[in-house]
Amino acid sequence: MYKILIRPIFFLFDPEKIHNFSVVLLRLIFFIPGSKAIARAIFKVDDPALKRTVLGIEFPNPVGLAAGFDKEARMIDQLEPLGFGAVEIGTLTPKGQPGNDKPRVFRLPEDKALINRMGFNNEGVDEAIKLLGKRNAKIIVGGNIGKNKVTPNDQAIRDYEYSFEALFTEVDYFVVNVSSPNTPNLRELQSKEPLKELLNRLQERNREKEIQKPILLKIAPDLTDGQLEDIVEIVKETGIAGLIATNTTISRDGLQANKERVEEIGAGGLSGKPLAGRATEVISYLRRSLGSEICIIGVGGIMTPEDAIEKLKAGADLIQIYTGFIYEGPSLIKNINKAVLKAGL
Ligand code: FNR
Repeated sequence: MYKILIRPIFFLFDPEKIHNFSVVLLRLIFFIPGSKAIARAIFKVDDPALKRTVLGIEFPNPVGLAAGFDKEARMIDQLEPLGFGAVEIGTLTPKGQPGNDKPRVFRLPEDKALINRMGFNNEGVDEAIKLLGKRNAKIIVGGNIGKNKVTPNDQAIRDYEYSFEALFTEVDYFVVNVSSPNTPNLRELQSKEPLKELLNRLQERNREKEIQKPILLKIAPDLTDGQLEDIVEIVKETGIAGLIATNTTISRDGLQANKERVEEIGAGGLSGKPLAGRATEVISYLRRSLGSEICIIGVGGIMTPEDAIEKLKAGADLIQIYTGFIYEGPSLIKNINKAVLKAGL
């Protein structure tokens, strides 16, 4: 129904406006008594064989929603009935910020892709905490944290520490985002020394707690082999729990879309189908280098159940979707879970 009825109408309008409209629509639909139970019956695949314990947490299934869709945890109660095993909120920054000028999300339908330069628009970590306090759904929540645009890189640690402390009791795991292409100079924090310092500081904070929370690092698909080697070393040295591979890419290689149109769109991170191959490559490399102990969450271009299986076979413990959810709708979650069961993964 989504692809035949809803998507053709949604795709007539501006992507960000439709996103905001969908939030309201889902809220309205789930106000109707019994609607959540109906959605669960349609979309959820409840099977003990789907369960996996990763990061010391029991996930009911391996399919999560990637960061950026529900930045402030406004929709946890509406996303849970759609069958996700986890929802990652954020990227959150200490202070709210508007992000880049609009328009800042673009569709490339011929490529099943999106380009976005949102720029960490969010209402700030304190707003998310308020909303997390109001949620009813029992679902695993990851907290993806970043720095404010106005914070210089040499003070970035403070921003990450602030959000880590503020969110500590509210989320099940943390994701340190230094890989968005849309905050000027953010990706420089992926280089060896600043990254080690940042992760060591967060780990120190983590060790001060009675019970520690897993900290993962989200990386860009555009890292060179040398930079990936550095990441592997940093993971081992800092003892973080895992990696999320990958964020969006700045590459525009191999697109079907008209070159002029792509140029006209301009800067931003590309997600969806064209990202799949590179993201899988990065996951394979990391799994080979890190062994089986470190958690890898695979994300990037999962548009079909087969794509998800590929990521799991490449070494991902869990997967996440974003652009696939926009193009394929919530049935993608169910179809992936069924395929995982069928593949015996
Ligand atoms: C994103 N993504 C993202 N990632 C992140 O860590 N923090 C964020 O705030 C956002 N925001 C965001 C907005 C939009 C509009 C898109 C399309 C994506 C990246 C996302 O979580 C994911 O890593 C990539 O999109 C790759 O996965 P898909 O979309 O190919 O499944």
